[in-house]
Amino acid sequence: METVTESSSKSWTRSREMLERARRSLVGGVSSPFRAKVPVPLYIEGGHGSRIVDADGNSYIDYALAWGPLILGHSHPALSSAVAARARGSHTFGAQHEDEFIVAEYIQNAVPCAERVAFTSSGTEAIQLALRLARAASGKNRIMKFEGHYHGWADSVLISYHPTAAQVGPHDAPTPVLTSRGQVPNSIDNVVVSVWNSLSALETAFQRYSGEIAAVIMEPVLCNSGCLLPLPGYLEKVREITKAHGALLIFDEVITGFRLSPGGAQQFYGVKPDIATLGKAIAGGAALSAVAGSKEIMEMIMTGQVSFGGTFNGNPLAMAAARVTLNEITVKGSEPLARVNRLGQQLMNAFRESARKHSVPLTVCGFGAAFAIHFTEHEELLEYRDTLADDRDQLQRFLYHMLESGIYTLPDGRFYLSTAHTEDDIAETSAVIDRIFGRQDFRKPHV
Ligand SMILES: Cc1ncc(COP(=O)(O)O)c(C=O)c1O
Repeated sequence: METVTESSSKSWTRSREMLERARRSLVGGVSSPFRAKVPVPLYIEGGHGSRIVDADGNSYIDYALAWGPLILGHSHPALSSAVAARARGSHTFGAQHEDEFIVAEYIQNAVPCAERVAFTSSGTEAIQLALRLARAASGKNRIMKFEGHYHGWADSVLISYHPTAAQVGPHDAPTPVLTSRGQVPNSIDNVVVSVWNSLSALETAFQRYSGEIAAVIMEPVLCNSGCLLPLPGYLEKVREITKAHGALLIFDEVITGFRLSPGGAQQFYGVKPDIATLGKAIAGGAALSAVAGSKEIMEMIMTGQVSFGGTFNGNPLAMAAARVTLNEITVKGSEPLARVNRLGQQLMNAFRESARKHSVPLTVCGFGAAFAIHFTEHEELLEYRDTLADDRDQLQRFLYHMLESGIYTLPDGRFYLSTAHTEDDIAETSAVIDRIFGRQDFRKPHV
């Protein structure tokens, strides 16, 4: 265990041994530094439905879902056999095949802004293509992004991702903050940072950079900083303001796509962006992402005005997985995701009820299929800055107790649900939450 020192009923001996060995060859022993932040970086043997099993044979209800992609749960039978069948007929072609346009048609039918689709392999890549298209289509350079929003790890957008309270700067003119050493320093010259969910902050930024903004990019639900929802009318107003200033609107739907509703946040809130990026759930666990947008913008790729490529674009294994996933999530109507969101909301309510019962200061934000818990006295969280007061040590303690009790989660307090989760999973998890919140160390100290 890396961050919490307590005795545990689980030893995780095999996972610890494997991590130790991995650290001698693989940097940090993990394939993404985010994964080292979990209380115990477990080695996973496999998964079935809503459950995963670690190398020590422990079984957990999985609310991490591989950081989001597993919208159908683990080893969904149709998805597994489609990928296996595809692999038997060669892994990749670097040429056209039927699944590409079937999947593109599924996306076109489900996602309102998707007149045309282009495939990439990761969310980070999709964002780069979206930004290039936006700059090409608008003839402008600056991109407006918001504090706390994550759009992948490329230099151009890894800015003001999780700045500290000391770094953020004034509310109406936030300081752009580079996130990583080695990032091209002048990336910030091309970006304007604003505060999300604040129309006055947006207007101020547009006035300051009048005529210079190529596009505004945002997570339409701020999933990477605690699943904060847009205020009623906010997205509509952003749409109006961007149009008025001749800027494009990009929704980064890497998380909300095929999760909040079959057509993502744009369908759910009825606000159509010019371009959307899609990823994670799109292929139920295979590496696939996509950019969707108006015909006029997307066809800049075909005319050669916008250059883009990728060896693995539209690769058959990912497309086979996407075909099954989108068939379940979009073609079969809205009910599968509506059920996932209902179950998630039940769990959100279970958190709230237990917190109330045991006087634990807790705020739960999100939409069900994705939500996050915040140990905080703030009852309303509207923007990234509001989350800076969260008690993160308390969160780590809580997640550690959850892991010990057979509940696997992400380190930032985010929970994902899949079509494989059941009422029984929710009941079992709710009982664990209630037991943990009943511990003395979770209650609000009496003053
Ligand atoms: C909203 C959002 N955009 C983009 C990305 C980057 O996607 P990837 O990790 O596939 O590069 C992520 C990843 O978590 C994300 O949550």
